[in-house]
Amino acid sequence: MKITFAFSKPNLAEAAGKVINKEVETTFAFNEEELTRALNKSGRELDFIFAHEEIFNTRYPWEWISYIKTSVGIKTKIVILLSESTDSWYREIIKRLSVDLEISLIPSGLTIDEIAEEIGNRVYPKTKTSDENEGGRLAAVMSASPKDGATTIAISTAICAAMRMPDKTVLLVDFNLKSPEVRDQLNIQSDRGYQLIQSDCDSGTLEQSALLKACEKLKDVPNLHILTGNQRREWAEKITIDEIGHFLAVARKTFDLIIADVHTFPDQAATLKCMKNADERIVVVQPIVTSYQSSWNDWFNSVWQHYGMKETDFHLVLNRDNKGALEGFSIEKAMGTKIVARVRNVDKGAGIKAINYGQPLYLNEGVETNEFRDNILQLTSWIAERIGVELVPLQKDSKAALKGKRKLFGII
Ligand SMILES: Nc1ncnc2c1ncn2[C@@H]1O[C@H](COP(=O)(O)OP(=O)(O)O)[C@@H](O)[C@H]1O
Ligand SMILES: [Mg+2]
Repeated sequence: MKITFAFSKPNLAEAAGKVINKEVETTFAFNEEELTRALNKSGRELDFIFAHEEIFNTRYPWEWISYIKTSVGIKTKIVILLSESTDSWYREIIKRLSVDLEISLIPSGLTIDEIAEEIGNRVYPKTKTSDENEGGRLAAVMSASPKDGATTIAISTAICAAMRMPDKTVLLVDFNLKSPEVRDQLNIQSDRGYQLIQSDCDSGTLEQSALLKACEKLKDVPNLHILTGNQRREWAEKITIDEIGHFLAVARKTFDLIIADVHTFPDQAATLKCMKNADERIVVVQPIVTSYQSSWNDWFNSVWQHYGMKETDFHLVLNRDNKGALEGFSIEKAMGTKIVARVRNVDKGAGIKAINYGQPLYLNEGVETNEFRDNILQLTSWIAERIGVELVPLQKDSKAALKGKRKLFGII
């Protein structure tokens, strides 16, 4: 095996060298000239090149990235370590090009030991993805029609579950490939997200540690990991079923519960594969004809039933509920399956405010969201029971909601 490391910092090179076995032929370059020499000599024979962005501080990203790509072999795996000091526009360009050129990225802000671990894991993969459905449980959440509230329900349930499952790890993943919104709804600004690991998922080489490092965390909920979506929205249709399948297999090995927010339209791999593989399929529906009748039935009849799914394989969450008991029955009848939770509409445009301020409804402690939070707890209890996890209640939790046994119809 041949590897070239291009790092400007000798201590990073030293740490990387330690995780690589002696029989590997390694070359170290500490500046651009040394790297050029190394690549001229044996670029095409390399198995891996790990390059720190800092090496190229006099060139534009599109220049040095294409230089690396054209100087190595087709099979050479390129891994770029992002620098903390890059201009955000350049960082965006690097991320975008890396999707096109199948380049893996290591996020900035890691310690030297963490970077060395990442390098070791990529050169000596540990994750074996034999059985796709082994490990953590997957709950996929989609809306019957866009804007019914899938993202709101997925975010709320993930936070609620993580808070009450302190010994378990929870992943919230945004798989709306064409309209990823978790980033905005949680006001996440960092450069982490699916983009960092897209190429690893594509080549079937995603490592658990790389997945963890691509995730964001919320303050105060340490066991909740959040993977924001790919900002290359136009790339959505190039993402394959196998890529998502590989991702899910690794995610199941890494987390106890995965909540995937997927889009309504089953015209992309993430929606199809997540729904097909999910242990729990949750459809968020509003008491509006365009949602529970037209959109759901058209998609179910034209797509889902051809994937061997029955209506009863899906469970409904009636969102933006205004307590109309009869509505519940007619929605169940129209959709051919049952409502497992009803989630109250929070009035006065609270939802839009929540998004614009990046402060999710579930984390709004005001009285106006009391009922909403209770309903989310009830839904979370239902999920927990299905996956066989006992929730650890918080002091303020309503016992009825925890039992997941609130009356679904009539007065709530
Ligand atoms: N129960 C609710 N009460 C108030 N606003 C809500 C509720 N559920 C969703 N919303 C708001 O509705 C809009 C669409 O919700 P979103 O979760 O983004 O839908 P989707 O992911 O299905 O497209 C957002 O502004 C959101 O804040
Ligand atoms: Mg959404």
